[in-house]
Amino acid sequence: MTATGRMFELLRRQKRAVFSKASHLAQARLGAGLYFLLTGAFGDEKTAVMQGNHLHFSGERLGNHRMFLRRSVHRIEKGLISRPMRKSFAADYIEGTLETYVNLRNAETEDKGELQWARDVLARYFESTLQSTDDRIIRARKRWHGTDHAPSIVSDDLSPFPYHAISSEKAFDEVSRVAMNRRSVRWFKPDVVPREVVERAVQVGLTAPSACNRQSYRLELIGQGDLLDEVASIPMGTAGFAQQIPLLGVLIGQHRGYEHHRDRHAIYVDGGLFSTGFILALESQGVSSCCINWPEIPSLNKRMSAALGLQRDERVVMLIAIGYGIDGQEVPRSHKRNIGTVLSWR
Ligand SMILES: Cc1cc2nc3c(=O)[nH]c(=O)nc-3n(C[C@H](O)[C@H](O)[C@H](O)COP(=O)(O)O)c2cc1C
Repeated sequence: MTATGRMFELLRRQKRAVFSKASHLAQARLGAGLYFLLTGAFGDEKTAVMQGNHLHFSGERLGNHRMFLRRSVHRIEKGLISRPMRKSFAADYIEGTLETYVNLRNAETEDKGELQWARDVLARYFESTLQSTDDRIIRARKRWHGTDHAPSIVSDDLSPFPYHAISSEKAFDEVSRVAMNRRSVRWFKPDVVPREVVERAVQVGLTAPSACNRQSYRLELIGQGDLLDEVASIPMGTAGFAQQIPLLGVLIGQHRGYEHHRDRHAIYVDGGLFSTGFILALESQGVSSCCINWPEIPSLNKRMSAALGLQRDERVVMLIAIGYGIDGQEVPRSHKRNIGTVLSWR
């Protein structure tokens, strides 16, 4: 090792020793607060969460917030399926929900199905609450009947429906075969993955559960050029294989769907669930992938925001390298934990 190398190694050890000592502060609540205050950790996250809360409240006030509509419609659906169904429910947000639906129903949008879902659920809500004497519900119903509604475009009805469980050995075998075959693949052929293949996988990802059905994330896919080189080189975890990733997904969470900072983890949970379906659906079509960690480092946040033009409530959840893997390449065994070590029955 050279003298400079030795010096860096010494500095690295010193730094670890300082962090190790500082971590003792965590044993006292105040100590942990002080530690994070001094290091400035969570700064970007706090800003994004607050910006999200702000966008939520201002959108709700203006009556044009899609996430508010999604959440409200979801809550109404839960009211409709509750047993027994109450005579009055959703009274405190029905007028705001209707206002938002009315404002958005003619808006240019790529998702007309979302508006049909809102319309069909609201239609059922107003039929189901006829017995209610709550002024807010009565007022909203009157407005509902005075509003013109677009025709159905997705299917006849997008309100609650009868569910039937699938029970089939074949389905289990297929799901587990795809899941067991999946591995993080880092070495790819240069072949282009057709858009339809990726879009089919996104469709599966979108079936994932999400907090109040907000689905507050989006996926940027970068397939070529300088932008691919730039973005692939930003996270630290791509070192050594960044240059040959043919398609890179950046999964971006949006805090704008949330009014409370207590929900600040929802974008990561929803994004993680989306990704699971997405990468399994890629795998089932012969397309490999590797999730890439997004480290919480302000300078990297800045670079990624500049490269992709992220909005202030948007946070990178993770990146996903996508492509046709070189056949027969070795992959880490990444032996999985025994179920006994993660599962306990009580
Ligand atoms: C959130 C997350 C972040 C990851 N980050 C990286 C990364 O930065 N670089 C990398 O090479 N692999 C990364 N991986 C892949 C893991 O190393 C891999 O999933 C793990 O070792 C299990 O192996 P398997 O995916 O082949 O089952 C990441 C995986 C996840 C889920």
